[in-house]
Amino acid sequence: MTDLLVVGSGFFGLTVARECAERFGMQVTVIDQRDHPGGNAWSYADADTGIEVHRYGAHLFHTSNARVWDYVNRFTAFTPYVHRVYTNVGGEVFPMPINLGTINQFFRAAYGPDDARRLVEEQSRELEGLPVDNLERKAISLIGRPLYEAFIKGYTAKQWQTDPTELPPDIISRLPVRYTYDNRYFSDTWEGLPVDGYTAWIERMLDHPGITLELGTDFLADEGPWTKASTVGQVPVVFTGALDRYFGYDEGDLGWRTLDFETEVVPVGDFQGTPVMNYGDADVPYTRIHEFRHFHPERADRYPTDRSVIVREHSRFASRGDEPYYPVNTPADRERLLAYRALADRERGVWFGGRLGTYKYLDMHMAIGSALVMVDNELAPALGR
Ligand code: FDA
Repeated sequence: MTDLLVVGSGFFGLTVARECAERFGMQVTVIDQRDHPGGNAWSYADADTGIEVHRYGAHLFHTSNARVWDYVNRFTAFTPYVHRVYTNVGGEVFPMPINLGTINQFFRAAYGPDDARRLVEEQSRELEGLPVDNLERKAISLIGRPLYEAFIKGYTAKQWQTDPTELPPDIISRLPVRYTYDNRYFSDTWEGLPVDGYTAWIERMLDHPGITLELGTDFLADEGPWTKASTVGQVPVVFTGALDRYFGYDEGDLGWRTLDFETEVVPVGDFQGTPVMNYGDADVPYTRIHEFRHFHPERADRYPTDRSVIVREHSRFASRGDEPYYPVNTPADRERLLAYRALADRERGVWFGGRLGTYKYLDMHMAIGSALVMVDNELAPALGR
């Protein structure tokens, strides 16, 4: 007997399942079409080196939400890791996001905050009076041409496989420039990585007598133990899969970008000296390289000194068979989303949540926070708890 079916074992589904089992004493079945739980946050130890690799792209935990921070600390402790990113352009390496260090290195200068601000303001007035009708013009109006051409143009063209003059301006609303030397990537109150890895954290969330996990089970398959046809209307369902697929793509496909990961064990103990190096030049085919050992400096004595795992990341538009990672969010997508939301509102006994179920990029803390809110505000009253 199942009181609730949760489709998808990413952090949204895991949080809903755990809360409903623990707080309400429900029997919860969690299914996932993959052969492992945890959604995109899942990681594994590389067979050759033992280095923890985030299978679906680097996952850095950060939040300013006290409820979420307290909640996640029930399942894992966090290392004091602080994320920083560098970028390789024109044969030089600069700190990111653009800050006073980046500006002074780039212009071979020693500006203070006010002079740097004045310079960027002056350069961003170049196109004054012209319509801001594409991403390139928007970016120039925000940070000026020199910084845009060095740090944004090539990287953005690779991310979108499209020249920025062909991209709509509303893809970016702001480009952060810091007039200090602070190059912390995130500015949240809490930040860190799970001490024993993501998989241990995920397994602890599932470790409750009220939760049953079934892997390799696609809710939208024609046949199987837990399908849409056999469960909707019979048992409450929380669905965290793709919204358009749930409705048979009736309103059209929602656009996503995906990533291809090229993983390599290199015969050096330290390949790039840092966890993430972006590559801004258009003629380098990948957007960034992750070197996973650097996410856990505290494991140095457990990781080999003569090998390292690196992952080159390539970005492209997704088609139906690909992993959907980042919503493209064109005006046409937003229209389709409204149509799907109307359908979802009419689907009795099914709650849609998470990144795929709402067509929204959600960081882990946002997925967990929104799941806690859904349990409080929607599931508890609807399920009479
Ligand atoms: P998630 O996608 O994790 O889980 C959904 C699950 O549903 C999947 O396991 C899928 O297999 C399953 N599913 C889908 N359809 C199904 C069906 N029909 N039947 C059965 N199962 C089905 N966040 C952050 O805080 N810091 C970071 O650094 C990053 N980095 C990052 C990199 C990349 C490349 C991506 C794509 C995402 C991140 N994130 C992140 C975001 C993080 O991964 C995100 O918060 C969680 O994935 C959201 O959890 P969900 O449960 O919503 O989805």
